[in-house]
Amino acid sequence: MVQFGQHLRAARLACGLTQADVAKRLRVSKGYISRLEGGKARPAESTVRRLAELCATDPSPLLILASHLPRDVREILWQQPTEAPAVLRETFGHNDYEQNERTHLAIAVAEPQAIYQPSKASYELFQGDCFEWMEHRQPDSIHAIVTDPPYGLKEYTAKEKAKLRRGRGGVWRMPPDIGGCVRRPLPRFTVLNNDEKQQLTKFFRQWGACAFRVLVPGGHVFMATNPLLSQLVYMALIESGFEKRGEIIRLVQTLRGGDRPKNAHDEFKGVTVMPRSCWEPWGLFRKPCEGRVQDNLRKWKTGGLRRVSSEQPFCDVIRSSPTRSLERDIAPHPSLKPQGFMRQIVRAALPLGEGVVLDPFMGGGSTIAAAYAVGYVSIGIESDLEFFSIARTAIPKLTALVPNGESKDRSSRPLQNATRSAQPSLFGRT
Ligand SMILES: C[S@@+](CC[C@H](N)C(=O)[O-])C[C@H]1O[C@@H](n2cnc3c(N)ncnc32)[C@H](O)[C@@H]1O
Repeated sequence: MVQFGQHLRAARLACGLTQADVAKRLRVSKGYISRLEGGKARPAESTVRRLAELCATDPSPLLILASHLPRDVREILWQQPTEAPAVLRETFGHNDYEQNERTHLAIAVAEPQAIYQPSKASYELFQGDCFEWMEHRQPDSIHAIVTDPPYGLKEYTAKEKAKLRRGRGGVWRMPPDIGGCVRRPLPRFTVLNNDEKQQLTKFFRQWGACAFRVLVPGGHVFMATNPLLSQLVYMALIESGFEKRGEIIRLVQTLRGGDRPKNAHDEFKGVTVMPRSCWEPWGLFRKPCEGRVQDNLRKWKTGGLRRVSSEQPFCDVIRSSPTRSLERDIAPHPSLKPQGFMRQIVRAALPLGEGVVLDPFMGGGSTIAAAYAVGYVSIGIESDLEFFSIARTAIPKLTALVPNGESKDRSSRPLQNATRSAQPSLFGRT
């Protein structure tokens, strides 16, 4: 790490920043920056990227010096496992790859703010890249994944997030004000071109391989998608070895689609270019069971979905509302999912209520809050420092909310039966 520290110090000085400036922007202590520059700490990949961005320097050398291979380099090594090391050895003359080097790479990332486990709570939060985290996680150690990934891919890049935070431009569009109310930004998925769609497929294939490895046999994945891109995501997960087990339809009125042709509204008054979207698909996948479902349930505690009650199975259409402003005020993340819906799917994800639920794209923490509310153990990973700190503060507060009623502050103890009656209301009482 000494070389990393020297490189970082040189980059910081070159752009005229003090250690205190960098610490303030990263929301860490000055002492931590000093330890990084002294080679005494190893930062998470996302922290290295933030440091490089702040110091206006290429992140690749810093990533490599901190033992995080940049993703494109890692991909080259994976895709050319024979040629790439041979070319490197030939060029740079080292041939001493040792087993303990790998152990070094696998050391857990530990730094202020990067790992958070509140006392007495049943969840752990990690700030960092979920691909890296899953690669280092023990195989067969997660019982369900409930997640809402950045399937537009672009919307959570540093550039697009900066535009989102500035409030203009990029893939985030600001819906028009209705009745003077300021509305939250929505990502524009239709801006993905063919290359980007291929990239998306590749992203999910790679993600699928990591997820398959960490899930126990019979473990389910609930994955939020959207009707324009779901087929790409689903194919990629199937190619990674998952069985498609259906789709959960979240019935929710959105503001996507339903518009008349742009700049020709009056001419084509009776035309809608795309249907107004009133549902959100959540792909449901399962890692194949070992033997029969009953055998798998006995051995791994997975393979099925938890019933709502002994009379009521878990159903695949769930009536939902857009996320309430009460929840968005607690966790101001642009893609926050509502507790009323999340608690129903998270609860269903562990058939016996035992095991660990993972959300590798945690965002504002809605999955983890839902897991905590229904009494499950969970792990959340978020790469963005700002969203990570939002989630950290928001989870206990979201957990304490009554899902669809008024804001009644409950104590933050887990609400075991929080979703008992939620599903039947779809077909009966509303
Ligand atoms: C669609 S949002 C999730 C929102 C979340 N469901 C909620 O209710 O708040 C996706 C999140 O994944 C994060 N993300 C993107 N790439 C990541 C990666 N490689 N590892 C971890 N988090 C990542 C983004 O910063 C973003 O906050």
